[in-house]
Amino acid sequence: MALADIQRPVASELERVADELRRIIAADFPIIADVNEHLLRMKGKLFRPTLLLLSDRASGADDARAVTLAAVVELIHLATLVHDDSVDHSVLRRGMPTINALFSHQVAVIMGDYLYSRAIIELVRLDDLAPLRVFARVTNEMTVGEMRQLEAHDKLAYDEAQYDQLIRSKTASLLSGACEVGALGAPVPYREALARFGMRLGMAFQITDDLLDYTEPEAVTGKPSGLDLKEHKVTLPLIAALAEMSPAQRRLVAELMATPDPRDAVVAEVVRLVETAGGLDYARRRALQLAQQAEAELEILPPSPARDALRDSIAYAVERRS
Ligand code: IPE
Ligand code: IPE
Ligand code: MG
Ligand code: MG
Repeated sequence: MALADIQRPVASELERVADELRRIIAADFPIIADVNEHLLRMKGKLFRPTLLLLSDRASGADDARAVTLAAVVELIHLATLVHDDSVDHSVLRRGMPTINALFSHQVAVIMGDYLYSRAIIELVRLDDLAPLRVFARVTNEMTVGEMRQLEAHDKLAYDEAQYDQLIRSKTASLLSGACEVGALGAPVPYREALARFGMRLGMAFQITDDLLDYTEPEAVTGKPSGLDLKEHKVTLPLIAALAEMSPAQRRLVAELMATPDPRDAVVAEVVRLVETAGGLDYARRRALQLAQQAEAELEILPPSPARDALRDSIAYAVERRS
């Protein structure tokens, strides 16, 4: 399933999202303008704007502000990425240097706030509490999610229930919010079904991201490979694999988690262990299960090309390689 196919029903609106984004973040202060230029050059998949626009279409909401709201959701996403890369000490994003690598961690912190506050200004300008209410709740939930991740100390005891809670808050909440905001003008049952759809899809999306961290090289993802283990992040492939490992294998994982800057060879060894213990297969099955739950939420919507595209976005989210 190709991204372009999913985006086809809203392709012309998506083209306008980039211009909206440029307008919303524009600044004449030199460093901010420089960072903005860099950010606008690094193009992402625009998955959240796509979901918002497709939800708008599929629910019949037909909101005249949809393109602006789509730019706002991408902007909130961008702000979290700028902060996330600083927190994760990541040097590569969308195949380009991160803000913390190219400028500094200080600039990344301030720019994340800048982008987020611009999103708020834009929402306030719309003079409608409904989208502001959704996005304010979601961004707050995302910060709690990121804090949860940072504070997970007993790495080997980290379980799937905690992981589920983490991915719901740090990732799925925003995808859910995108779908919900797209359907604000639609009947409540449609809006609620789309919010639930986005939540399930978002969880599958993050599990897939965590799988790609294990399986794909940075040339494919545009992000460093194996970074989660290097940063001592326990994700679903490892959680599932740990349950199947021998005491000696678990000790190797524990050692990696206790090493501040683990060597590539150790990371590669743990990646191999996770694979042979069935951790990757387990995570793939869980993503597919969530994908099925997401699909069921779409049944309430009237048939349309936009609804089909939302359904196809599920397959895309779990099959993608970047
Ligand atoms: C990356 O999101 C962060 C996650 C929640 C996994 P995307 O995979 O949507 O990144 P871009 O926007 O396409 O770069
Ligand atoms: C998702 O987690 C980050 C956010 C929701 C901001 P990751 O840390 O796995 O995302 P990537 O891999 O850096 O894109
Ligand atoms: Mg990260
Ligand atoms: Mg990741």
